[in-house]
Amino acid sequence: MNIQVKEIPHERGAGMLNPLLGSHTGPFASGAGKAWQRRPARPRYPGPGGDTGSMTNSLKAYFSFFWAGLRKQGQTGGLVPSQRFLIAMMIAPVPKTYRGQILELGAGTGALTVQLATRCPQANILACEINPTLARNTMETLRRAGCIDRVEVVSTPAEDLLSGMDRLGMEKPGFIISGIPLGNMGGRRACALLDNIHLHLAEGGLYIQFQHSLLDRKHIRARFAKTRIVPVFLNFPPAVVYYAPREG
Ligand SMILES: C[S@@+](CC[C@H](N)C(=O)[O-])C[C@H]1O[C@@H](n2cnc3c(N)ncnc32)[C@H](O)[C@@H]1O
Repeated sequence: MNIQVKEIPHERGAGMLNPLLGSHTGPFASGAGKAWQRRPARPRYPGPGGDTGSMTNSLKAYFSFFWAGLRKQGQTGGLVPSQRFLIAMMIAPVPKTYRGQILELGAGTGALTVQLATRCPQANILACEINPTLARNTMETLRRAGCIDRVEVVSTPAEDLLSGMDRLGMEKPGFIISGIPLGNMGGRRACALLDNIHLHLAEGGLYIQFQHSLLDRKHIRARFAKTRIVPVFLNFPPAVVYYAPREG
């Protein structure tokens, strides 16, 4: 993985080195670190009331996701991106004024990423997506919503990103938000990912994961004893959200 550290001087870090992982220095690199200079923009995407470009992008993103879901079913974990009730449940615990690091694993087409960036304009958001086509969709979604400067998108497996954090001396995120289909990964790989998430989440931080089954609740509870599970029926397909605090 070709990753780089960026120094981002801003009021949150008061001149501290604030390491964010840059992506491959190719088309998947997106800039973060200018959030404090900009007024939060209202998202123009998604929504039927949006402009034609947004609608086209929305359809393109849906099609990309659907195609990825057909071709790489296990990896994608669904045929349609998450919808608004599930997204709202996923991001609700993150304070709107949060200024720390948030890591999103499995961003898909950016359906959640864009809502998170809009909700938390002062946060450092790093979104990771294994599928390069979907990572590009995420970037386009963010660009259309005017949030591209506030989110770093990397097209890389979450496992590599998490293990690279130590080497780069990255700040531990206060929130890790994941849509990665743990149940499709196989027990050993899912457990290794959960260990990695636990290791890299800040003490007192919150890991938020959704799943379309309860398959991994024991694995999650084994690492995060105080996990709460909330069903979300208003999503297709219905899901459960795990809220898993890391005890300090
Ligand atoms: C169920 S989708 C969720 C997408 C999006 N977060 C949403 O809510 O619509 C899971 C996403 O995780 C991605 N993914 C699967 N395994 C991954 C891994 N090891 N690292 C990073 N992303 C992964 C898939 O490509 C897919 O886009």
